[in-house]
Amino acid sequence: MADSRLKDKVALILGAGTSAPGMSIGKACSLAMARAGAKVAALDLKIDAANETVAEVTAQGGVAKAYAADVGSMDEMRFAVDAVMQDWGRIDILQINAGIGKVGGPEETTLDDWQRIQKVNLESILIASKLVCPIMVEQGSGSIIGVSSVAGMRYLGYPHLAYSVTKAGVIHFIKMLALQYASQGIRANTIVPGLIDTPRIQKNVSKVFDSTGNMEKTRAARDKQVPMGRMGTPWEIASVATFLASDDASYITGTELVVDGGLTGKFV
Ligand SMILES: NC(=O)c1ccc[n+]([C@@H]2O[C@H](COP(=O)([O-])OP(=O)(O)OC[C@H]3O[C@@H](n4cnc5c(N)ncnc54)[C@H](O)[C@@H]3O)[C@@H](O)[C@H]2O)c1
Repeated sequence: MADSRLKDKVALILGAGTSAPGMSIGKACSLAMARAGAKVAALDLKIDAANETVAEVTAQGGVAKAYAADVGSMDEMRFAVDAVMQDWGRIDILQINAGIGKVGGPEETTLDDWQRIQKVNLESILIASKLVCPIMVEQGSGSIIGVSSVAGMRYLGYPHLAYSVTKAGVIHFIKMLALQYASQGIRANTIVPGLIDTPRIQKNVSKVFDSTGNMEKTRAARDKQVPMGRMGTPWEIASVATFLASDDASYITGTELVVDGGLTGKFV
């Protein structure tokens, strides 16, 4: 039987493209939510990346439309949210997924790096919730999903300071939203992915694992860190996002779901 858990719902996914060819978390979430019946508003900084996601959703028989905006810009996000409302008339699911980082500790992180990472990873939640919470309040329902990282809970063996601090902030921001809006039909939860095999790994962290950025060595090293012996797939995050977005999670709010193959439970 077809999955109809998100039938008639509109899902706005921020960072719905991929930063390099392949399957990202935002793209997998867009595809999974569309397969569950949602209409997907795929928003990305890069319109080509959003268009690619839309093309894949459409090819699979789903409904989606691309929107371009920088999640760190109030003006661009206001324009995009207005466009989604004009196109679909409601927003039931908001997944705040866009994220950037730069490897380094306090000495390597410039103030510009710090401010840009804060803007994209954290200020984006303030901007999106300012715009979307009033819509959900009026609807009397909504599900907000933040995307943190195990880096926001633990030191992962190399300095990733600005990224980690923002990802810790995501968890608490979403918890604050959940508690404030709990009585108004809005749920808000955070997914905490572990080490996930996405194209971003090559771009961002492969040099930490191998000085030449060799992806086979990077994958082997990351697989070895995880108690389950492998990185997760974007689909393993997408299935959790679809669950949290759906009424199957109707009594879940203000919490974080760690999806990490056992990584954060590990001592050595
Ligand atoms: N891959 C992992 O191992 C991993 C682990 C934990 C958490 N995460 C988190 O999951 C999320 C997705 O990660 P991914 O690996 O799929 O990344 P990705 O880089 O492949 O995809 C992120 C998308 O966000 C878009 N984006 C970046 N900045 C933006 C901005 N300012 N405005 C709008 N869109 C913007 C990019 O263009 C890209 O399409 C991120 O928040 C990341 O921190 C990833």
